[in-house]
Amino acid sequence: MTHSHLHALRGDVEDKRERIPFTRPSMLGTELAAIRGALETGELAGDGHLTKQCHAFLERTLEVPKVLLTTSCTHALEMAALLLRIQPGDEVIVPSFTFVSTANAFAVHGAKPVFADIRPDTLNLDEAQLPSLITERTRAIVPVHYAGVGCEMDAIGQIAARHGIAVVEDNAHGLFAKYKGRYLGTFGVLGTQSFHETKNFTCGEGGALLINDQALIERAEIIREKGTDRSRFFRGQVDKYSWRDVGSSFLPSGILAAYLLEQLSARERIQGARQRIFERYLAGLRTWAQQNDVRLPIVPEHCEQAYHMFYLLLPSYAARTKLIEHLKADNIQASFHYVPLHTSPMGEQFGGRAGACPVTESVSDRLLRLPFFTDLTTAQQDRVIERVVQFDTRAR
Ligand SMILES: Cc1ncc(COP(=O)(O)O)c(C=O)c1O
Repeated sequence: MTHSHLHALRGDVEDKRERIPFTRPSMLGTELAAIRGALETGELAGDGHLTKQCHAFLERTLEVPKVLLTTSCTHALEMAALLLRIQPGDEVIVPSFTFVSTANAFAVHGAKPVFADIRPDTLNLDEAQLPSLITERTRAIVPVHYAGVGCEMDAIGQIAARHGIAVVEDNAHGLFAKYKGRYLGTFGVLGTQSFHETKNFTCGEGGALLINDQALIERAEIIREKGTDRSRFFRGQVDKYSWRDVGSSFLPSGILAAYLLEQLSARERIQGARQRIFERYLAGLRTWAQQNDVRLPIVPEHCEQAYHMFYLLLPSYAARTKLIEHLKADNIQASFHYVPLHTSPMGEQFGGRAGACPVTESVSDRLLRLPFFTDLTTAQQDRVIERVVQFDTRAR
């Protein structure tokens, strides 16, 4: 056999290494039967008994006065903007290190996003920056609980209260996580969740609005139901429904609620699996990280995290690029994360400029997320760990 034949053969073997994806939706196996059940009872539109069961589960578990399922976290954030009557000229403080929706949901109603930098430890909005960012136009602060690790809610709540500013928690990553013993999403006047396929609990595309202020419940129902009081009509509180306010259609189909209810009901199983995966990464990578100038996730003592992701902070952009390549060569998919919003084309239109959020800029260049999903097997995870620890960040 010639040398090139051998090489081709080895290539074939390597190509057959099982691909380990970066993410895969949580799937229990019971979802299809639940969807069939929804179809059989004819529960196709929103707000039937399956949606109500999701609401009740979340209200009871999180101890929130009112939960409303939405079609996405983006839409829950837009509902927040409508509920707070965000107007052109208003300012909303958001971290630059977040998904577009955190800022866009308010910008779409005319607000100017004001970008805060993040803390170097948790990568959450740096509360110490708030006093210098608040103006007489600031209407809301939107902390994002990155990776489902709580922001410093005591400090954020105090600053917001002092200035009469609303707090809306973007808790897309952090369902069932806690800060000082209390569930994330329950500190602000409003909290938002995501059930997108990449999240711990999913229905494909979906979200929820947590309403912590009783005074906002009635209007939230109206905004979510195309500006009508149809929710009250369905409860028999009015004999016909009519156009009451502005709104849109933010409620998901009962088919999605059926899917989601299965997932929520398996809370312990899903979170338990994810906790074990997180801890196995931590144990398997700790020594390598110390020797390679790599920072592993930091979870403060007073935070119980959601086990949403496992990230590495590499010493440089070049090291991160090389590690992604090194993993890819073994058919392992790893991913960077948010691109700073303040230097995006839209962010610049709102006055963002390079250098304004140095921690965000540096973290965005150096952060890498390893494969992390509920069904990641021990064998798959061991392969990831083995491959990572072969990588020397100091080698040129
Ligand atoms: C912090 C954050 N907020 C909001 C969203 C938007 O969620 P959705 O896709 O449910 O609209 C995401 C999506 O990943 C996110 O990471």
